[in-house]
Amino acid sequence: DWTSDTFIDSTVAQLKEKIGNDNVVMGLSGGVDSSVAATLIHRAIGKNLYCVFVDNGLLRKNEYEEVLESYKTLGLNVIGVDAKKRFYDALAGLSDPEAKRKAIGRAFIEVFDDEAHKIEGVKWLGQGTIYPDVIESVSVKGPSATIKSHHNVGGLPDFMKLSVVEPLNTLFKDEVREVGRALDIPEAIIGRHPFPGPGLAIRILGDITAEKVKTLQEVDYIFIQGLKDSGLYNQVWQAGAILLPIQSVGVMGDERTYEKVVALRAVGSVDGMTADWIHLPYEFLGKMSNEIINRVKGVNRVVYDISSKPPATIEWE
Ligand code: XMP
Repeated sequence: DWTSDTFIDSTVAQLKEKIGNDNVVMGLSGGVDSSVAATLIHRAIGKNLYCVFVDNGLLRKNEYEEVLESYKTLGLNVIGVDAKKRFYDALAGLSDPEAKRKAIGRAFIEVFDDEAHKIEGVKWLGQGTIYPDVIESVSVKGPSATIKSHHNVGGLPDFMKLSVVEPLNTLFKDEVREVGRALDIPEAIIGRHPFPGPGLAIRILGDITAEKVKTLQEVDYIFIQGLKDSGLYNQVWQAGAILLPIQSVGVMGDERTYEKVVALRAVGSVDGMTADWIHLPYEFLGKMSNEIINRVKGVNRVVYDISSKPPATIEWE
């Protein structure tokens, strides 16, 4: 029978055997998968694991600082890289969703490669790939593969001649969470909603500017914090806010306003392949709308997305 403890023991033993005294480099995202994978590899080889956590300027408010801190608490050897400017430069003027994804992917590889080259004698690349990523990347062929270029499986650039270690590639998400809990990874990481690699860039429809990121971070923060404070966060599979590329007329005091519209999205799902919009309580939605409009400069209207997947997708881009 599968238990997280036997999985941990056998995986750590296998990793020790496989990696020996070599060095491993690994990119962390702040998400469950890469955090659990890194912690397992760290159990096996300690300081020979070098983790890289990149601030791409597209993370949630305070996320970079908070996640970096939890990684340090876990004892991981983490190199934090502030690459905000590099990503904003790469994204300047791009509005097409796939063009944005590609620019972000390229910028990440450049930043990661720079860091990897600073580490002596790296032989392995650690990855947080889980079983559903493996199946999807094998089975998704033809036109459906290009609906969105999500998955980073097999995305190893040629110039990094490294072998891959993927300790979670036989596990489903709930098993990854169990293993993470058994490894004493904080609940703030384990229970975290999925968050896309391109981050807020695919929730800002159209082109990206630092100012738009700031606005969306404030909106998202109020919404996510609201879900947590109301005990709704764990009942939702994924939630976030979307900054729309339109302005609408409003009124503030006796002034006419002409400002941005944001959409809130919260879905229930098992694996992200299908999803239902969540019937958040009206009272909660009303409270969020007031808080967002009162507190976030430049936003005068909030709407709630009531579309399921299919035919909509979870992200708007
Ligand atoms: P969609 O929008 O296709 O999203 O219904 C399904 C799940 O995948 C996430 N997603 C991404 N994750 N890179 C990622 O790492 C991406 O480009 C990307 N696009 C969507 C989305 O957040 C949801 O969890």
